[in-house]
Amino acid sequence: MEKIILTGDRPTGKLHLGHFVGSLRRRVELQNSGEFDKIYVMIADAQALTDNADNPEKVRQNVIEVALDYLSVGIDPAKTTIFIQSQVPELTELAFYYMNLVSVARVQRNPTVKTEIKMRNFESSIPLGFFCYPVSQASDITAFKATTVPVGEDQAPMIELTREIVNRFNHIYGPTLVEPEILLPENAACLRLPGTDGKAKMSKSLGNCIYLSDTAKEVAKKVKSMYTDPLHLNVSDPGHLEGNCPFIYLDAFSTAEHFPKYAPDYQSLQEMKDHYTRGGLGDGTVKKTLIGILEETLQPIRERRAQFEKDIPAVYDILKAGSEKAREAAARTLDEVHAAMKINYFSDRALINEQAHKYNG
Ligand code: TRP
Repeated sequence: MEKIILTGDRPTGKLHLGHFVGSLRRRVELQNSGEFDKIYVMIADAQALTDNADNPEKVRQNVIEVALDYLSVGIDPAKTTIFIQSQVPELTELAFYYMNLVSVARVQRNPTVKTEIKMRNFESSIPLGFFCYPVSQASDITAFKATTVPVGEDQAPMIELTREIVNRFNHIYGPTLVEPEILLPENAACLRLPGTDGKAKMSKSLGNCIYLSDTAKEVAKKVKSMYTDPLHLNVSDPGHLEGNCPFIYLDAFSTAEHFPKYAPDYQSLQEMKDHYTRGGLGDGTVKKTLIGILEETLQPIRERRAQFEKDIPAVYDILKAGSEKAREAAARTLDEVHAAMKINYFSDRALINEQAHKYNG
């Protein structure tokens, strides 16, 4: 069986470091591993509209931002098909059939949907389209026969629902769809990178994000204002690591090779942590190390972004070509779905003959 990746993001804002360690970095590694036969990365504008119906301009503006972020981190259109969800209408049709295989109660139990309903004050009135987005996500995944879906932990319920839909569909209509597997980030810091204020998650509305497109100056300023250990008042005081942002970010970003360059007094992050907890290591030094490491990561991304920004029409051309290619793949699956569901009337000779026979002997 072919190994196929599908993943994507809602274009509701620029991508930040949380996206980078949570999924973007991994996507580039997977892309370059040569282990996958096909890779699709989707800009989920239709899904973004499910909770931004009154603000389509926000979605429209962010499609290009997300595309630039993808290209700048090294997602390569020669290896990965980058496309816009709304330009593949086959996905919508699939969702319409899948909705018959899922109960309202099943979606109501989805913990991610539950949290989002609260966050968006949808409690009194949930848009029906928003309520159905987990089902539409199953279409996104199955349309491409994806075997592997690299996403953050919050997406696990969607992949679970997709697997249920696949099983129900195949059980009722015969084997047609492929059951996907989730691929989660490698460590806890990457699973949920806190915002610079120490809050649980980077989120635009909390203003605690470091964006991939931030300048070196902005990044340094944000790191310097990061939440650390409020009890660590003097350098000599023993410090605490729990909830300490610079150290969590170091967990997510640093490798052994970084230490000789950015913290030559230490062989490893563990040594640095030990010194901090013993006392005698100041937050400023930790932050300086982090700024150096982040810059090493972000500078090439920034440079690549600047290149792509010079020719925006070419970026739209990449998205157009990707969307056409994605559409062909989704159409093939939709044909198979039609055939399995026996709603392929005009290519079903047996049906036409059977009806002709019934009426004319
Ligand atoms: N829900 C994802 C997000 O919030 C975006 C998305 C839409 C997606 N369809 C998908 C991710 C299919 C993986 C697979 O960013």
